[in-house]
Amino acid sequence: MHATPPLVTFDPDLGHAVLRTPNSVYTLRLGSDGSPRHLRWGAPLDDADLGATPDAVSRAASSFETEAAADELAPQTGARFGPAGLQVRFASGTRGAQWRFTGHTVEGGELRLRLDDRHHPLRTELCYRVRPGSDVVERWTELTHTGPADGPPDPITVDRLDSASWTAPPLADYRLSHLTGGWNSEFQLQRDRLPVAETVLTSRRGLTSHHANPWLALDDGTATEERGEVWSTALAWSGSWRVTVHRDPAGRTTWTGGFGHEGLSWTLRPGESLRTPVYAGLYTPHGFGAASRAWHEHVRRHVLPQPDRDRPVLYNSWEATGFDVDEAGQIRLAQRAARLGAELFVLDDGWFGTRRDDRSGLGDWTPRPEAFPRGLRPLADEVHRLGMDFGLWVEPEMVNRDSELYRAHPDWVIHSPRLDATELRNQLVLNFARPEVEAWAGETLDRLVRENAVDWFKWDANRAFTEAGWDGHPDPDRLWIDHTRAVHRVMDRLRAAHPGLRIEACAGGGGRVDLGILARTDQAWTSDNTDPVDRIGIHYGFGQLFPAQAMAAWVTDSPNTATGRRTPLRFRFHVAMAGALGLGGDLTAWSVEELAEAAELVAAYKGIRPLVQRGHLHRATTGGAVTAVHYAAPDDSEHVLLTWRPTTRFGHPPDPVRLPALDPGARYLDRDLKQVHSGAVLVRHGIDPRLPAGDYASSLIRLRRVES
Ligand code: DGJ
Repeated sequence: MHATPPLVTFDPDLGHAVLRTPNSVYTLRLGSDGSPRHLRWGAPLDDADLGATPDAVSRAASSFETEAAADELAPQTGARFGPAGLQVRFASGTRGAQWRFTGHTVEGGELRLRLDDRHHPLRTELCYRVRPGSDVVERWTELTHTGPADGPPDPITVDRLDSASWTAPPLADYRLSHLTGGWNSEFQLQRDRLPVAETVLTSRRGLTSHHANPWLALDDGTATEERGEVWSTALAWSGSWRVTVHRDPAGRTTWTGGFGHEGLSWTLRPGESLRTPVYAGLYTPHGFGAASRAWHEHVRRHVLPQPDRDRPVLYNSWEATGFDVDEAGQIRLAQRAARLGAELFVLDDGWFGTRRDDRSGLGDWTPRPEAFPRGLRPLADEVHRLGMDFGLWVEPEMVNRDSELYRAHPDWVIHSPRLDATELRNQLVLNFARPEVEAWAGETLDRLVRENAVDWFKWDANRAFTEAGWDGHPDPDRLWIDHTRAVHRVMDRLRAAHPGLRIEACAGGGGRVDLGILARTDQAWTSDNTDPVDRIGIHYGFGQLFPAQAMAAWVTDSPNTATGRRTPLRFRFHVAMAGALGLGGDLTAWSVEELAEAAELVAAYKGIRPLVQRGHLHRATTGGAVTAVHYAAPDDSEHVLLTWRPTTRFGHPPDPVRLPALDPGARYLDRDLKQVHSGAVLVRHGIDPRLPAGDYASSLIRLRRVES
């Protein structure tokens, strides 16, 4: 038996760092110009083999080229012509840093490499962290102006500070997987050949965005769900961001990413530091499915605040009542929701200020007197009496011009007063980077929790930033970073002050879902589109990175408000049961039969909840227009399979669904049919998905491992 090698080592003589995870190794070496160069990231090698592997560092091929090895964070100097992860300007007008390595620390799984600029008072620390049992490498950068506080006040301007740059090994070809979309169509997985070019994935919206997500995966074009090497990265940031993937004509592929979009700059004064968010990377030799499962495990173990707490079956009133909320109507819905088995009742938009539509009231977080003459407490108490938690919709970062808050503090918005402010949904964005706004938000939310016994906030944000500016502030672009940091801080403080409180992330559906927001929220509202057919694709993209327990999915009315499509209740349930199930329809309009069927399906969900919310997700593929997901208990004891076939086609019966995650040597009891299947058959041949005839067919199959 040999001892497990340490997770992180650094050899100062060779300038060589090795980071080990169970299924990967990540190595780098200090270049002759002091800049850390990437060596390899891929399948594990032991020390002897690593030592025997030639470095990719080679001289430039011509006076028009750089070295073969890419930088861990490219400064803007030397023969480097790709996107620079660090771009700085000094008071003299000089651009770019030239590093001298000045030290390192290794503590547990964390490595820090300290680099000082050879000409200016600038220091950067490249930081790496690996955790036992995880294949994720977390990276971030810290940049410090090391000039003495009593020295010349020359500031340093930071035009770009990425969290990390990543490099894939030489491959025969490169394919990029990433997520695009829009409102009502988030998380659409794109899988395209990577062009020999710079491909920019970005959000300039002040939010992570519906349109792109800071996650990507690279492979050589042949990986499948179950096979093939995949390199994948995800940025933990909830504001604007940019990732530039560079496949150069020489065949190298690197990508560099971090907070902020192009054109912004931040100022560092003597003694000040700037720390980036974490940019996490993951290598797996076992295909896209294994990459997703490793991400899910990482999110569960190291990101979500309370991963082991069941996500409640919630009822949300938005699709039922819109802005038309009042105490009696909400109580009627709450009574029905409780009878169906809901565990949390969320009062959505419309309860505050003068809010009867989206034109007024945002910012005035006191109950609307005509709707809640006795305040919210009687509703909260009734919800609690019915055995449910009480949740409340808020949109703390936003304000309508027609509000008491805007009239009192017109200067609190981010929109530059010298420009016409674009209104979207009749609202403006508050500048959380202002300490007084952050404090106001914290106090307001804290008061709402205390006065109304709130157990859950749905924290919404329904517009992007425009004309963002901060007149008179010496460093106005800081708001792009500081707004997001303040949002994170307000959430963190609320949770610390109220340990039972849970928060659902929302930004007009899935406009702000990332590893940064999930570190202080329990789940995300995936999309305002609750059409089950559209949701199958949205869930598929969401699950590439995020686990099912963070994916809020409601069953709503038919026809669907977004698409007008009519679908059976069972199909709607089976789609929503693949995530954190919620109910969002007008329950007062559901028939007695529908209510009975819904109650049965809610109970069935509770039975499979531990598997869906904490099991391992396998996306099962099959022919016959069937999509399936399989959730496996980590110990193989229980399994659940959800299958959907939105449209049927004559002569194309559904193929059996193969379940490669099962043990071929074991036997599994179909808990509903009371039939025992051989594991080998389920792995190699598959299981009949038992879909009824017709469109919108779905099924739920539960398997239990039994003694042979
Ligand atoms: C957008 C959210 O995604 C919806 O669920 C709802 O809360 C509305 N905002 C309310 O304005």
